[in-house]
Amino acid sequence: MNEKILLEQEHKPTGFKVFLTSMEDTHIKHLIELAQDQSLIDLMGWNTFFEPDDTEQFIEAISDCTLSYSRKSQPLVFGVYLALESLPIGYVLLKGFNMDLLTAETAVAILDKKYRNKGYGKLALKRVIIYAFDELQIKTIGATILLSNKSSINMVKNLGFVVREIMYKSWPMPNGELADMVLMELKNDSIKSWN
Ligand SMILES: CC(C)(COP(=O)(O)OP(=O)(O)OC[C@H]1O[C@@H](n2cnc3c(N)ncnc32)[C@H](O)[C@@H]1OP(=O)(O)O)[C@@H](O)C(=O)NCCC(=O)NCCS
Repeated sequence: MNEKILLEQEHKPTGFKVFLTSMEDTHIKHLIELAQDQSLIDLMGWNTFFEPDDTEQFIEAISDCTLSYSRKSQPLVFGVYLALESLPIGYVLLKGFNMDLLTAETAVAILDKKYRNKGYGKLALKRVIIYAFDELQIKTIGATILLSNKSSINMVKNLGFVVREIMYKSWPMPNGELADMVLMELKNDSIKSWN
């Protein structure tokens, strides 16, 4: 039953591709190393510093759900690869599946700084969204993002996500402050215009 999923998405204008697949432990350790970056804490709102062997804790942290309608369920965690024989540059996942409401949450991070702002994050997110809508019959995908994380908000807006709610002072940051969060959602019929 535990068949390895391999997803691929091409950026049509340039021909570059991303591959998404489950990660072996050494690849998760690589992401843990890349995540040791103070600036990520402000962007993501949680402490991204883990011991190299804390692979389970790292997966638990990225799989944590924030939406009220999300349900406890097995997350689908993918490494983001530029080539299959290489190390991942980041992760993307679907989590909190609610199969009564047909909803799920998503999150993405390109942890390798040198590959940010090159279109890979958006492409990876696009692929898991298509997978959730087409293969898992999900109808709504939600994402919660710190209101200060403008580039992530731009990215999901460009994919058709709309703002559902701004939750002021709702997110406890590792430094003890409460940050504002925005809940964005995408419905399955809004991706018809994607090419
Ligand atoms: C947010 C993140 C996943 C985006 O992935 P990426 O590969 O760097 O971004 P892309 O090159 O795919 O760009 C996607 C969109 O993001 C927006 N974006 C990217 N960089 C931006 C910047 N510096 N300023 C404003 N918008 C920006 C753009 O809208 C872009 O869409 P467009 O190409 O249609 O204009 C990645 O930068 C990242 O991991 N950042 C740190 C962690 C994080 O913030 N994760 C999200 C937590 S919810």
